[in-house]
Amino acid sequence: MLFSPIIIAAVALPLLAAASPIELERRAGGPAIVPLAANCTLMNPLPHASQHPGNASISGYKPSSSFSSSKIFSWYIPQPDFISQEARWSNCIQQCNGLSGCVSAYMAYNAPLPKGWLGLPGGELEVGCFMFNRTLTPLDFEVAQSGQYVNATAGNIYCPKPATATANSGAKSTATKKTSKTPVKVVA
Ligand SMILES: *[C@@H]1O[C@H](CO)[C@@H](O)[C@H](O)[C@H]1NC(C)=O
Ligand SMILES: *[C@@H]1O[C@H](CO)[C@@H](O)[C@H](O)[C@H]1NC(C)=O
Ligand SMILES: *[C@@H]1O[C@H](CO)[C@@H](O)[C@H](O)[C@H]1NC(C)=O
Ligand SMILES: *[C@@H]1O[C@H](CO)[C@@H](O)[C@H](O)[C@H]1NC(C)=O
Repeated sequence: MLFSPIIIAAVALPLLAAASPIELERRAGGPAIVPLAANCTLMNPLPHASQHPGNASISGYKPSSSFSSSKIFSWYIPQPDFISQEARWSNCIQQCNGLSGCVSAYMAYNAPLPKGWLGLPGGELEVGCFMFNRTLTPLDFEVAQSGQYVNATAGNIYCPKPATATANSGAKSTATKKTSKTPVKVVA
């Protein structure tokens, strides 16, 4: 069987290379990173976020299990992370922006790996980024187990619809997804 060794090597690679930077990039991979257009606004839906103006980070809340049915993509990165929370979150929310149907994202530290993720037993605490096709509200969160889902950040992406849009296709039309390097306004 000509292809068997190649297939075995490809399957074994994630476990063998689990700690290398290349593997981190692969695990962080997925949707393309697409910066939000300058006229888009990011709103933090985390409970009590409005009580911490300018501080988007809240500990101890995770998206509820019922809301998790709206999850369309997630990634996990081993801790300690070598990239700042700000940079990692920017990566997470911009990947949501680049993922068709994605309108909100959530990122936290000490997020337990799901059972069987990359063949691991599950429960290992990592940085987790979850992307959703539904807008988060404070009621969509539940209290996490103590010590888990700390330093969390979340955001709903709101982009104005172009005045010329004829198709009323809901969340985001392709016209609102054009990229821009201008920093996006963040409302905590
Ligand atoms: C920012 O959020 C962190 C985590 O929830 C909290 O410990 C800290 O007190 C907050 N800081 C401000 C200025 O609100
Ligand atoms: C959102 O994603 C979930 C999970 O993939 C899917 O079952 C659901 O149909 C999606 N909803 C919309 C409105 O796209
Ligand atoms: C959460 O943030 C605090 C304050 O920046 C930091 O000391 C702590 O190490 C962070 N926890 C994790 C698990 O990243
Ligand atoms: C928002 O910005 C994008 C990219 O610059 C632009 O194409 C779009 O027309 C703008 N939308 C509105 C409603 O101004």
